[in-house]
Amino acid sequence: MYNLLKGKRGLIFGALNDKSIAWKVAERVCEEGATFVLTNTPVSMRLGNIDELAEKCHTIVIPADATKVQDLENLVTKGMEHLGGKFDFVLHSIGMSPNVRKGRTYDDLDYNYLQQTLDISAISFHKILQVCRKLDAISDWGSVVALSYVAAQRTLYGYNDMADAKAMLESIARSFGYIYGREKRIRINTVSQSPTLTTAGSGILGFDNLVDFAERMSPLGNANAEECADYIITLFSDLTRKVTMQNLFHDGGYSNMGMSFRAMKIYTEGLEYRDVKAVKRS
Ligand SMILES: NC(=O)c1ccc[n+]([C@@H]2O[C@H](COP(=O)([O-])OP(=O)(O)OC[C@H]3O[C@@H](n4cnc5c(N)ncnc54)[C@H](O)[C@@H]3O)[C@@H](O)[C@H]2O)c1
Repeated sequence: MYNLLKGKRGLIFGALNDKSIAWKVAERVCEEGATFVLTNTPVSMRLGNIDELAEKCHTIVIPADATKVQDLENLVTKGMEHLGGKFDFVLHSIGMSPNVRKGRTYDDLDYNYLQQTLDISAISFHKILQVCRKLDAISDWGSVVALSYVAAQRTLYGYNDMADAKAMLESIARSFGYIYGREKRIRINTVSQSPTLTTAGSGILGFDNLVDFAERMSPLGNANAEECADYIITLFSDLTRKVTMQNLFHDGGYSNMGMSFRAMKIYTEGLEYRDVKAVKRS
């Protein structure tokens, strides 16, 4: 460990269970010497085991639904009270689509569900930032990170309305990044992570195949949740003070690939011998 976050205080959204990306971030943040407060919705607190994480990291959990401004005001106020000062870092690791959950396809969306997808997965990020700014809750040179996915830029089968939510999330990081950067030198970035085996991840249609495909396409292989946490630590640290308003790909190179040998093999192996020869010739 490098003591990269020694003396820093933070707020971490989205640890549901030990598979969650936020859970891994909390563990690494703790190892790097920071103190922090955890939060999740009351329902997720019951369904998962965030209390275990809190105990392990000697901290508290303050319940909040990130779509409710009042909950966020209470969370931010109590969180600062508990830590004895402003936050130096904030993690938004929140995503959920009722359309995905209920099996509604992108050409048959329920629009009430779509509103919820956008509210939970993207607008909540704006709400958190706006509440923090109004309560002056983030220190100068603080760092805010939200988790995104490459479906914001490229269409991926089955990702559904979450693609729209991620595009909006990344846009909020840029728009608020300008305001908060100009005023307080606070940086705001999104990390676009490889498909990762978590509760939210495994809700996506054909997730196992998506993981396999991304693994074959990425020269460095898929990034796992622990590696994602390592990367986020650097973004919370003072080593990245001039990085802001960026969508940072943490995906083993996937986002810049077109076709790889290992992905191509799936198709060639499935073909008749004469077709393979034809592929080789072309
Ligand atoms: N797993 C992947 O393949 C993958 C890939 C790229 C990006 N991401 C993103 O990473 C983030 C974390 O997801 P994860 O994969 O760790 O899954 P996860 O299911 O462990 O985490 C999602 C979290 O969102 C929380 N949440 C849902 N509604 C909420 C609300 N109204 N208020 C507050 N919290 C709420 C859940 O309680 C849960 O803790 C999400 O933004 C997700 O889209 C995941």
